[in-house]
Amino acid sequence: MVRATVVQCRSRYNGRASAFRTLRRTTSVARYHAGTMNDDASKAASGLERGLTSYGDTQFSLFLRKAFIKGAGYGDDALSRPIVGIANTASGYNPCHGNAPQLIEAVRRGVMLAGGLPIAFPTISLHESFAYPTSMYLRNLMSIDTEEMIRAQPMDAVVLVGGCDKTVPAQLMGAISANVPAVQLVTGSMITGAHRGEPVGACTDCRRYWARFRAGEIEQAEIDEVNSELVPSIGTCAVMGTASTMALTVEALGMMVPGGATPPAVSADRMRIAERTGALAVEIATHRRTPDHVLTPAAFDNALRVLLAVGGSTNGLIHLAAIAGRCGYALDLDRLHQMSETTPVLVDLKPSGEHYMEDLHRAGGLATILRALAPLLDLDAPTITGRTLREALDAAPPAFAQSVVRSLDAPLYPRGALAILRGNLAPGGAVIKRSAASPRLMEHEGRAVVFEDAADLARRIDDDALDVHPDDVLVLKNIGPIGAPGMPEAGYLPIPRKLARAGVKDMVRISDGRMSGTAAGTLVLHVTPEAAAGGPLALVQSGDRIRLSVQSRELALRVDDVELARRAERQPAHAPMPTRGYAQLFARSVTQADLGVDFDFLRATQSRGSVPTR
Ligand code: FES
Repeated sequence: MVRATVVQCRSRYNGRASAFRTLRRTTSVARYHAGTMNDDASKAASGLERGLTSYGDTQFSLFLRKAFIKGAGYGDDALSRPIVGIANTASGYNPCHGNAPQLIEAVRRGVMLAGGLPIAFPTISLHESFAYPTSMYLRNLMSIDTEEMIRAQPMDAVVLVGGCDKTVPAQLMGAISANVPAVQLVTGSMITGAHRGEPVGACTDCRRYWARFRAGEIEQAEIDEVNSELVPSIGTCAVMGTASTMALTVEALGMMVPGGATPPAVSADRMRIAERTGALAVEIATHRRTPDHVLTPAAFDNALRVLLAVGGSTNGLIHLAAIAGRCGYALDLDRLHQMSETTPVLVDLKPSGEHYMEDLHRAGGLATILRALAPLLDLDAPTITGRTLREALDAAPPAFAQSVVRSLDAPLYPRGALAILRGNLAPGGAVIKRSAASPRLMEHEGRAVVFEDAADLARRIDDDALDVHPDDVLVLKNIGPIGAPGMPEAGYLPIPRKLARAGVKDMVRISDGRMSGTAAGTLVLHVTPEAAAGGPLALVQSGDRIRLSVQSRELALRVDDVELARRAERQPAHAPMPTRGYAQLFARSVTQADLGVDFDFLRATQSRGSVPTR
């Protein structure tokens, strides 16, 4: 029986590859032999004939390309197959992608079993802790790299292998703009560690233990001990940080093999997902199933619902805004807030809950979440498999009792994780992760204690002479997209040491920056426009009163307009402009948080509306 199925599959795949070869013979190859293939025809071609290097003689270009690739030992049969490019983001500086070589081997196996030819190619690799000044500064560079390498090299489909926070959005943004059939393969989460009998994992527990160390609750020896347990294996962060959020939302978008978001990096499941991804890549190459077939408004509605229901990272919002922008959709923050009001948090993972990613995988992964969330989803949305989300869900293993994903009737948190705030301090919006905030601080008015930039924060936050009280509101300026640059995750301002030692665990903190998805606290982020772009945040002074009301979605600076106008006149906005290189390109082109911090020239030129639609 098994053998019969394998034979059937093989003949189906060989049939596809043969149909692909026939198609090629009757189109571009025929034109090549007839000497009629021009540049446009080259773009529409397949296999080795895609994107020929321009020497003014397309026949010579193909002749030369074949000569070189044959130098690597490829035969004519191999070169007649659908080519699947594999974007390789392995790097010695990126432990989150430590399994990329094994994954690529498994993808190759899947591609070849399905009758295709796999060819891996390198791109930039970004790790959160090894990217100065911040990985967000380099995300758009990685998306350009990915887009242009997909476009420049002959491939009929591409498998995007990555996982760390900025990688998945960068790869997807690039593939969307290249509009070549693409499928995402994430590297998977790390396993959970243990410290003195308690489970720990990067990086909610990194911050929790560090806060205890700053408060003097634990000694140097213990913080050193826990340092060795927080990241017990390769793979992406173990909690609902940005990497996990993006893995789940990209599967919900339909751009991944079903079940591909949650298998841990070191599991056999992860390798099998890679193998299936390789086979799927041949299928989408054959059918020319490009990202625009999948990334419909319905797909974005589903992904945004999932972002809210999983207690996802605030960074997920920025990345989904950027991904939608590449497709021509604007992110409507007010509609997103309405969606959040009707989307309970169902997934009990840190930092909103208690569990870790490997627990979510054992609980059935995204299929369990989609089943619980089904009444709120558009299950007729297409996926890259050619099936709808409903069909993919029907084909998933059956539901079973588990305690990680709650039901709509008994959620972890009654409303969506994120709330969008407005007010004279954030006319373009700001976001708070209310599922990870302190309930007592979500309606709060306090005195501002202002830090002009990250250097000022570092200089004064632990000064015992700092005039700060537990009810104050900490404000950090100039860590937005332009100001820092790259919008670092410095929005998680530390509690001033003298207050931490007195037992203060949380305060209202406001900035134009981001925070790690693994962090928790009453943190107002992404204040738009940012201070460096002339936003009202630049005008706040220590001693001003600030009101935060999550209930009424308000972020208000209690200073009258006349005084604000006077301050604006005294200190006009002065965004730094680097003199050269990528830094200058970034400063000139980067958009604000509501547009995903993408470069303006990379967004789709044609508007197709806004998401979410309901
Ligand atoms: Fe790579 Fe957290 S540092 S996913």
